[in-house]
Amino acid sequence: MTVSAAGSDPGSALNVLLWVGVPYAAIATFIVGHVWRYRYDKFGWTTRSSQLYERRLLRWGSPLFHFGILLVALGHIGGLLIPESWTEAAGVSETAYHAVAFTLGTVAGVATVAGAAILIYRRRTVGPVFSATTRNDKAMYVLLMLTVLLGLATTVLGNVTGHPHDYRQTVAPWFRSIFYLRPDTSLILKAPLGFKLHVLSAWVLFAFWPFSRLVHVFSAPLGYLTRPYIVYRSRDTALGTRAPSRGWERTGS
Ligand code: HEM
Repeated sequence: MTVSAAGSDPGSALNVLLWVGVPYAAIATFIVGHVWRYRYDKFGWTTRSSQLYERRLLRWGSPLFHFGILLVALGHIGGLLIPESWTEAAGVSETAYHAVAFTLGTVAGVATVAGAAILIYRRRTVGPVFSATTRNDKAMYVLLMLTVLLGLATTVLGNVTGHPHDYRQTVAPWFRSIFYLRPDTSLILKAPLGFKLHVLSAWVLFAFWPFSRLVHVFSAPLGYLTRPYIVYRSRDTALGTRAPSRGWERTGS
C-alpha cells in the first residue's frame, strides 16, 4: 500500500492510531490523571497565583484570557455536541449558523490570544513571575497556544479565502462518535489539515492537563456564593473619630 493510500484509508493502522487510539488514550489519561493528582497531590492543586508579584498587567491579561477561553469552550460545546440536523430542524440555516459561529468564535479566539500574549509577556518580563515559572508551565503554555492558534488560524483562513469548512459534517460527528464508542475515522479524514492538527494538539493538551496548573479549572470557588460573611474588625488602639459603618462596630477589646 502506498503512503497516500494509507492516508485516505479510514482503517489504516496510522489513521486508527491517530483518530481512535490518541483520543481514547488522552481521555483515559485526563480522567485517571485527575484522580491520581487529587489523591496524591491535593495541596499542589492550585493555580500557583502570581498576583502578589504583579497586578497591573494581570488585571488586563487575566480577564481577557479567561473570558475569551470561556466563550471558546461554550462555542465548542455548541458546535461539537449539537448535530447540524437539530439546528436545521429549529429553522437555523447553515449559512446563518456559520455567520454567528464565525463572528463569536473569532472574537473569543482573538480575546484569548490577546490575553495570553499579555500574560506571557508578563511572565517573561516581570522578574519574580519569571522565576516562579517552571518548565511544566512553559510546556503548558506552548500546548495551549498551539491549540488556540491552530483553531483560530484554520477558522479565519477558511473564511477569508471564501472556503469555510463545514466542520459539522466532519470533525463534530467524528468527535461524538468517540463518545458513542463507535469511532468513525472516515469523518475526520474529510477535514482540512489545519483542523486535524488543531484536534491532535488538543488531545495532547488534554492528556497533559492533570499534571499542570490547568487543574485549577476544576476548583472554581463556588462556595464563595453561599458561605457566611467573614467579619473583620479593627484591633487598632489609635481609633479615628469617624463613626463605624453598620456591621463594622468596634469590638471594644
Ligand atoms: C478535541 C477537542 C477539540 C475539537 C474537536 C475542536 C474543534 C474545533 C473546530 C471544529 C473549530 C472551528 C469552529 C468554527 O469554525 O467556528 C475550532 C476552532 C477553535 N478551537 Fe477547537 N477543538 C478542540 C479543542 C480545543 C481546545 C482545547 C482549545 C483551546 C485551548 C480550542 C481552541 C479553538 C479556537 C481558539 C478556535 C477558533 C474559533 C473559535 O473560537 O471557535 N479548541 N475547534
